[in-house]
Amino acid sequence: MIIVPVDNLKEGMVLARDVATTSATDYRTLLIRGTFLTAEMISMLRKKGIKSVTIIGDKQAVMAKPEIREEHINHPEAVTPEESQKEQEESVYIPPAPAADEVRNQHIGKALTELNDIFSEHEEIKELSQEAVKKVNDIADDILVDIGNDSTYLGNQMIALQNYDDYTYKHCLRVAMLATSVAAQLGLSKRDSKEVIVAALLHDIGKSSIDHDIIIKPSKLTDEEFNEIKRHPFIGYNILKNSADGDFSGNILSGVLFHHEKYDGSGYPTGITGKDIPLIARIIAVCDVFDALTSNRPYRKPWSVAEAEEYILGSCGSHFDFDVTSAFMRAFNPYPVGTMVSLSDGRHAIVIQTNQTVLRPVVRIQGQNSGEEIDLSTDFRFLSVMVTGVYGGDYPRYAD
Ligand SMILES: [Fe+2]
Repeated sequence: MIIVPVDNLKEGMVLARDVATTSATDYRTLLIRGTFLTAEMISMLRKKGIKSVTIIGDKQAVMAKPEIREEHINHPEAVTPEESQKEQEESVYIPPAPAADEVRNQHIGKALTELNDIFSEHEEIKELSQEAVKKVNDIADDILVDIGNDSTYLGNQMIALQNYDDYTYKHCLRVAMLATSVAAQLGLSKRDSKEVIVAALLHDIGKSSIDHDIIIKPSKLTDEEFNEIKRHPFIGYNILKNSADGDFSGNILSGVLFHHEKYDGSGYPTGITGKDIPLIARIIAVCDVFDALTSNRPYRKPWSVAEAEEYILGSCGSHFDFDVTSAFMRAFNPYPVGTMVSLSDGRHAIVIQTNQTVLRPVVRIQGQNSGEEIDLSTDFRFLSVMVTGVYGGDYPRYAD
């Protein structure tokens, strides 16, 4: 079975799971599993705001014109709800078509309000209430379905969110949104992706127990202050462990506990290395640092996306995992078409085409010898030439 966005449904497809309203106050089953979809039903689902449904069949079968088989009508119980749920959670998650910006903006607004409530500043959190856990889960669902699978929208929102004054919980939301795209690039299942989002939303919750003056200190921390900061992953882990009857999965707890570990073992709190660091924590680590560098802080200007990605690439293998870094780069290309760049041979160029190796695009030289086009990924004459960064000079941004 496969999750299919409502906009991609065709008549004759068969529901593998019941479809219900999304409102908690008006919960009703709209269609039951085993139902053959008609044009009217698809239109009704759209009007009810349903984003996607689970359909019987594999991806190929569903993408092809579905054939109507009698057993679908008479034996919808051929797939038990448990099997349906398990398969759906374990299969690679195919995000639905992005929702309208209005819907996504509403979800971001809701997420910010609710995270603000949960992380009410300057208050120490001992554990999360059932209500707070539910809110975090709801936010994660919204990010998974509506917000986090469109990198253009994501990029714009990252910039918009950076203009807020208070930092911590907005940072957590941004890290969760970034991590969603990385999880998608890594081909994680829906269940694993949601765990990544929940852990990212809560990764710094332990900071609520650290002296706020240390958290916001603009100058270099003393050893004593840094040792205090280093307690926050373990405090966060304990908060989650004590919350919601221990319902947070081991993966989520690992994400929070190990998000400051480094690939070479120089991180904290335990100093574990390489792939011993759980994948969920390796994902959060990259997104956490990227967001911190590109955010506007009282004591420094934000780095550009390209500068932050250069830093992350430079720290690959020491701080960050290769696979996760590569997925991150695919999700957030630092040199999109039209970017003016500096090359290591001293020339300047404009990116005219991106390659799979996003740091080695096709460029057109500007200035002297203007117009020469070089594919930095395949042209053997220029294998030693690299993009060294975004050029801020006065060449026209889009030159022919
Ligand atoms: Fe942290």
